[in-house]
Amino acid sequence: MKILLTGGTGYIGSHTYAELCAAGHDAVIVDNFCNSSPVVLERLEKITGKPVAFHEADVCDEKAMDAIFAQHGFDAIIHFAGYKAVGESVEKPLAYYRNNLDSALTLCETMKKHGVKRIVFSSSATVYSPECVPPLAEGMARGGCVNPYAWTKFMIEQILTDTAAANPGWSVALLRYFNPIGAHKSGTIGEDPVGIPNNLMPFITQVASGVRDKLNVFGDDYPTPDGTCIRDYIHVVDLAKGHVAACDYLMAHRGVEAINLGTGTGYSVFDVIRAFESATGIQIPYEVVGRRAGDLPVSYSDPSKAKKLLGWTAGKTLDDMCRDSWRWQSQNPKGYR
Ligand code: NAD
Ligand code: WQD
Repeated sequence: MKILLTGGTGYIGSHTYAELCAAGHDAVIVDNFCNSSPVVLERLEKITGKPVAFHEADVCDEKAMDAIFAQHGFDAIIHFAGYKAVGESVEKPLAYYRNNLDSALTLCETMKKHGVKRIVFSSSATVYSPECVPPLAEGMARGGCVNPYAWTKFMIEQILTDTAAANPGWSVALLRYFNPIGAHKSGTIGEDPVGIPNNLMPFITQVASGVRDKLNVFGDDYPTPDGTCIRDYIHVVDLAKGHVAACDYLMAHRGVEAINLGTGTGYSVFDVIRAFESATGIQIPYEVVGRRAGDLPVSYSDPSKAKKLLGWTAGKTLDDMCRDSWRWQSQNPKGYR
């Protein structure tokens, strides 16, 4: 299959590119490097042993997208491109609505023009209503989102659903990711946050490498067994394999499916700290501070639909996630810089 990856030099896109190549697919990347580095391309060439078919362009640029689609006959698209920082989306909502919605709309219009009918979309567990009681299943309520980033995912799910309804030949997979962490086993590609990391695992690995003194644990007074929040952490390579399975699924099915990509198991912040310490032998100094606004006490998936439809389950353990995150961080203390 020939597949376009928008945002393919980003964290999840780069891992998915490697897995698509390993599965024998022909992948093409478009990215404007607004949150990634050209160095990723060199790393992907080393991992796959072949040059990367790459276009530097903004997915909101209609002319550029038109030219890319005219050059390649794509069987499917995986749409990763978008801004993803929750806190930043609260400060700059218009930038988030503009980039995330505009890129999705431009992509759909270009697909329509060129007769491409299959799309996998990077959605998020954050589309579920905060009222839902985990395990979160695809049929549960969505909305009531607490930040603009989450609303963009909610809205793009709707745009794709309406587009598929009006164009019956379309196949759409709305993949709702839980908490991706970890890195490729080579340690050459991984998550490379700019500035102070917002997310737990990159913060822990920066404490482990001495870039930061200690981890702030955001609250230990939640109604959970140890008082810290519980999340469904999933290895990024498992997540990437879920995309390969979703592309195969779209070849044989029409219509829209929302599908969770998670492990189905929740771990607390203290569980993750302990797992990291035991996987790496490095102590993580931490301090419990106040709660972070917008954090839900507990979030984890019901992953059974992915197993049923895609034949996919996550195979890697929290230990694997910690070890692989640390290999990436220790081999690349400054990320791709
Ligand atoms: P990332 O920022 O590492 O990757 C996104 C890529 O898209 C970057 O390479 C960036 O340069 C590119 N990009 C952004 N806007 C673009 C545009 N207009 N044109 C071209 N390229 C553009 O993020 P990621 O963690 O790999 O996430 C990929 C997708 O998955 C995003 O849509 C994100 O919202 C979604 N998602 C991520 C997580 C997570 O925790 N990482 C969880 C749920 C969903
Ligand atoms: C995990 C836990 C924090 C940092 C975010 C987005 C979500 C999705 C994935 C895209 C929480 C605690 C964290 C720290 C801490 N992205 N924590 N100290 O918030 O579940 O999800 O990324 O769709 O939309 O919101 O992940 O890694 O930020 O936090 O104690 O320095 O770690 O409070 O309990 P989150 P996270």
